[in-house]
Amino acid sequence: MEKPKFKTVQEVVAAGEGLPERYLHAPTGDGEVQPLNAAVPEMDIPAIDLNLLLSSSEDGREELRKLHSALSTWGVVQVMNHGITKAFLDKIYKLTKEFFALPTEEKQKCAREIDSIQGYGNDMILWDDQVLDWIDRLYITTYPEDQRQLNFWPEVPLGFRETLHEYTMKQRIVIEQFFKAMARSLELEENSFLDMYGESATLDTRFNMYPPCPSPDKVIGVKPHADGSAITLLLPDKDVGGLQFQKDGKWYKAPIVPDTILINVGDQMEIMSNGIYKSPVHRVVTNREKERISVATFCIPGADKEIQPVNELVSEARPRLYKTVKKYVELYFKYYQQGRRPIEAALI
Ligand code: OGA
Ligand code: NI
Repeated sequence: MEKPKFKTVQEVVAAGEGLPERYLHAPTGDGEVQPLNAAVPEMDIPAIDLNLLLSSSEDGREELRKLHSALSTWGVVQVMNHGITKAFLDKIYKLTKEFFALPTEEKQKCAREIDSIQGYGNDMILWDDQVLDWIDRLYITTYPEDQRQLNFWPEVPLGFRETLHEYTMKQRIVIEQFFKAMARSLELEENSFLDMYGESATLDTRFNMYPPCPSPDKVIGVKPHADGSAITLLLPDKDVGGLQFQKDGKWYKAPIVPDTILINVGDQMEIMSNGIYKSPVHRVVTNREKERISVATFCIPGADKEIQPVNELVSEARPRLYKTVKKYVELYFKYYQQGRRPIEAALI
């Protein structure tokens, strides 16, 4: 079993040998003089009440309109009243911090193997001159259960495995409700997206650690990208910001609203909604003082599923924008590597 020889960011910091060049972004030269950590305005996205979204009351319909408005402009919402308790979310945050605080040897027990996305390690290196992201991560496929590879599931901190299992099951309920709400917000039959997304859909959970960075002006936590998922559920750090979304070519920071789950549209949902719901480009900037953690879950349609705009959203006034795609995530990485937006590959 071959393990990558690259150091994690935590190891780079611990070695105290300064900042390796591989993390430094050169100025783009096309007029962009803003340092990466320049101040940006906050985005005005609503907190959506998931419980209300499910109700057929007038307040419920108003909530669906809010959802429609946010997903068709920003492609992201903060979800509250999602049914997962604050105490449980706090347990996930705590276990995430405890995992990354373990000695290297302990974390290496879950180390990623070469050519595998699952496991503990640094930014995936996809091409030779790639500028690396200032991030360490633990990436685990959590669903379907028969696809779990337990060798990547930490045995310490105690309770990590059980909690991740429990979180997965709780997320499945939120995901199903959210897919139904998205369909209803577009006046579709509530299973329209779920049927295409499928029973066999995969859930991948990524625990992210962004150590404090000596050069936040030139180093980035996660490069600009849109997610290749159908949707992504994110638990952003409760204290430390850094996540930014792009709209009309400008960056905005995500507000921190404790105990909400941030849900963003991914490319495959953009395709299913025929472009009405936007898969937003986003990035994470670093800071000098504080480490930041987050937990992202990518909801990925099964490899056998054909993803395409649902019929009811295609009309003469709104022609079909995307081809039918299958195994979109594979295509995603190919395009990502070329520095292109993968969803371009799906455009008609
Ligand atoms: C991602 C991502 C944001 C964050 O993992 O795709 O955008 O806040 N993460 O860590
Ligand atoms: Ni992302």
